[in-house]
Amino acid sequence: MKFLWGAATSSHQVEGNNKLNDWWAWEQKGKIEGGVRSGRATDHWNLFKEDLKLAKEIGLNSYRFSIEWSRIEPEEGSWSNEAIEWYGELLGECERNSLIPLVTLHHFTSPLWFAEEGGFSSPQASQKFLPFVRKVVRTLGNRIPLWCTFNEPIIFCVGQYLAGFQPPAIYSPEKCSLAFRSILKSHVKAYDLIHSENKTRKGPWRHQKLLVGYAHNMMDFMPSRDWHPLDRLLTLIAREFYNFSWLDATTGRKQRFGITGLVPFSRPVSSAGGRTTTDFIGINYYSKAILRWRPKSETYETASGLPFGISFSSNQEPISEMGWGFHPSGLGRMLRSINQYGLPIFITENGIADGQDTYRSSFLLNHLKEVAKEIDNGADIRGYFHWSLLDNFEWIKGFRPRFGLIEVDYQTFNRTIRPSAIFYKELIESHHEGHLAPSSAILKNYDSKLLKIQQK
Ligand code: NOJ
Repeated sequence: MKFLWGAATSSHQVEGNNKLNDWWAWEQKGKIEGGVRSGRATDHWNLFKEDLKLAKEIGLNSYRFSIEWSRIEPEEGSWSNEAIEWYGELLGECERNSLIPLVTLHHFTSPLWFAEEGGFSSPQASQKFLPFVRKVVRTLGNRIPLWCTFNEPIIFCVGQYLAGFQPPAIYSPEKCSLAFRSILKSHVKAYDLIHSENKTRKGPWRHQKLLVGYAHNMMDFMPSRDWHPLDRLLTLIAREFYNFSWLDATTGRKQRFGITGLVPFSRPVSSAGGRTTTDFIGINYYSKAILRWRPKSETYETASGLPFGISFSSNQEPISEMGWGFHPSGLGRMLRSINQYGLPIFITENGIADGQDTYRSSFLLNHLKEVAKEIDNGADIRGYFHWSLLDNFEWIKGFRPRFGLIEVDYQTFNRTIRPSAIFYKELIESHHEGHLAPSSAILKNYDSKLLKIQQK
């Protein structure tokens, strides 16, 4: 399999008018910064052909997107043929543009009917999720070689039930633990179903090995004060809970999702025990995370009820529109730490909110160098998906952070390829038109080119 040089999006962030999910309802209640709503988002629903043509123009050979459950199953048990056809067309466009699709089944949004019944904190959640998976597999599945069941399961649990940045934004460590359990159960059922039902494949990637995994967010946690026992303890706990509990649970190791004294440990899921239920590890990596016990300074984000703060940058360093510093060495560290699982790895997301495009080229180069270094050290890394193909709706932050390789004008919906996307294109081309995986020797040549771009 050739290396995947890709970019990623998710349904709710780009399609527009996803009116039947929990995020849409939450947005109407004024929960997004500045009271904005996703509305037409980037209008990818109508402009997907143009977007995929641009992806091809940038030289990408893969596209990660998600299928919106609330479109496919707007009411429990009723199916939208129109939505299924649209995703069929999207897959067709991937085929025409030679973009291998990596399809995510759940990227933060759930149908309103499901959310109103308690979402993934309800004990019936996995039974309700499975018919959607089956529908997608039976109608579109034979054209999809690569799957992510869930996007960022830990952030999803934390955002909903601990930190309040995802609907329903209820503080409930118990629900957090229950949600983790049903997401794990749903993942395992989906993993088994996709493998058992997807025997005959068609389309250009029919010979490509079917791989089913997920996209897991990892951060390079570190203590604010090296000498402070509580900062250090927080760091240890965060690494275990946030970075590794999901990886362990999906590789037949111990299921230990929980934090003593804060989040009750969830009951093990028997179907996940003693076996590996993922074909690859997908990681979404963005930044470091500095932890501090009862912080006083405002650079630390806190959530009510939690006795600690988290900062995504060190003092004085340049930051992105999200307030995150640049920390490529953390990607290397994360890759080394997941190598122990012995599975293929995809970087399912990595990117920067930078509307002026000041830092994106060097961000790309420096993170790809880390990827190349780990490949040199023997890691089985199969692809890199930049977040994002387009500027889009950045959840609770609205439209302000601009993550796109392609700029979107939200008045006219015009698309403009950013200079960093051209830089990415050159990097891809120099790796034998994207046939080679990132190579340290090739990437080294780009230091001086970058300098020239930056001096312009
Ligand atoms: C990860 C999420 O999967 C994606 O939806 C989000 O936009 C990026 N992080 C940037 O925050």
